[in-house]
Amino acid sequence: MVDHFDRQQKWRESETGLYRQGQSPAKILWHLDFLARKRKTAPLYTNTSRLGFRMTFKPSLSPRPRLFLTAVFFAWYAAAQFAWAGGHASIDGNDDFQQVVITEYGGPDVLELVTGELPKPGPGEVRVRTLTTSASFTDIMLRKGIYPGLDVEPPFAPGYDMVGVIDKLGEGVTGFEVGQKVADMTILGAYATHIVRPAELLTPIPDNLDDGEVVTLMLSYMTAYQMLERAADLEAGQSILIHGASGAVGSAMSQLAVLKGLKVFGTASTAKQDFVASMGVTPIDYKTEDFVARIAEETGGEGVDVVFDAISVENFKRSYSALKPGGTLIIYGFYDAAVAADGGSMTGVAFEFLKWQWQQLMWRLFDNEDRVVAPMYGITTMRDEHPEWFREDLQQLTALLAEGRISPRVWKTMSLDQAAEAHRMIEAGEVQGKIVFRVSGK
Ligand SMILES: NC(=O)c1ccc[n+]([C@@H]2O[C@H](COP(=O)([O-])OP(=O)(O)OC[C@H]3O[C@@H](n4cnc5c(N)ncnc54)[C@H](OP(=O)(O)O)[C@@H]3O)[C@@H](O)[C@H]2O)c1
Repeated sequence: MVDHFDRQQKWRESETGLYRQGQSPAKILWHLDFLARKRKTAPLYTNTSRLGFRMTFKPSLSPRPRLFLTAVFFAWYAAAQFAWAGGHASIDGNDDFQQVVITEYGGPDVLELVTGELPKPGPGEVRVRTLTTSASFTDIMLRKGIYPGLDVEPPFAPGYDMVGVIDKLGEGVTGFEVGQKVADMTILGAYATHIVRPAELLTPIPDNLDDGEVVTLMLSYMTAYQMLERAADLEAGQSILIHGASGAVGSAMSQLAVLKGLKVFGTASTAKQDFVASMGVTPIDYKTEDFVARIAEETGGEGVDVVFDAISVENFKRSYSALKPGGTLIIYGFYDAAVAADGGSMTGVAFEFLKWQWQQLMWRLFDNEDRVVAPMYGITTMRDEHPEWFREDLQQLTALLAEGRISPRVWKTMSLDQAAEAHRMIEAGEVQGKIVFRVSGK
């Protein structure tokens, strides 16, 4: 951490030792008392009452100085509280600009909270004060430098999605106003107290929706929704298999698919079976079961209509054999290669991609079973090609949320200074649903 947090840390650990984060008034009073003794002056307080402290005054101190010292102490204590809360609140309300940047490609430690000048919106842009953003697996790929197709070098701020409040309009912006709540899929830059965005990309968000839930719609639910509704051609009663059903995208897709009336199977590790089942999905423990055999058993040897897979080429091959004739395989990532890749190395993911091209060629040449492999889904490509679909789909998702028909699983709400910890949790596969960062209050 730099600047601001250094200052904050020094303040908390100042040489008086009187004020540290988490210290109760009782302890502070004890310190004051200790200092008073050291300086051979009157002790002011002792720590004996039920409330945690009690004032005891030396008879030598007359009522006026006593009153004065008490007032000074409480004024000081209130100021200290305010200053400390303010430190957090600079992620929480004042005008300092802070962002978490990837200083170089690598592990979670390369994430650093820095301060800077508040960015200004140019013509056609607006500045948004961030309310919430989220930690996603995609941010981890960006941090490692293995996210394909993005031409950016560190230092830069990650942050794929955000919900915020407009706090400044650039020249020529119409149709938006200061104070309005908006959301966007930013791809980069949302791990920050403020972000400048082209006005045309922003979607207005109703005030009554929960900011932590809305932010999950932008990347995770959108990916799930578009794959179900745009990439696949599914009707109620058909069957699907979702890999990683407990993850951010997997859990979103599980909810949407069950809502659509599909018969849903979902793979997850042992500890997450209950969560997957709680969404109305038939869980398959991929650590202990062969999912191909289990799907065959559950579907009378027929297979499922569609498999959604972002794991690895080895997994894609097995998913392919879990399809019924005429079924569709939809792939959208290389999770294993991305988890394994060292910081800064694109080789693993690129090699996996080549293997995938080769595998498709083999199927085309030698497979007669009439199964379909859809073009690899990518949310940014889809938005670039069909921005109107993105807007329509977000409207649908927002309506589902407002009607209470989907309930995003926010696994943890953290603050931006915990970004490294959030990344570590996602990479360790600990998360069930989504980690949301609360950046500022309304
Ligand atoms: N193409 C796109 O536009 C797009 C958009 C968003 C995400 N993605 C991709 O989608 C994937 C998932 O993203 P996410 O945000 O949902 O990540 P996530 O929240 O970390 O969830 C992924 C989950 O997959 C599970 N998993 C790992 N290995 C597995 C295996 N062999 N079989 C079944 N499940 C396994 C892990 O849980 P357990 O192992 O503990 O069950 C993990 O929690 C990533 O590869 C990401 O790059 C693609």
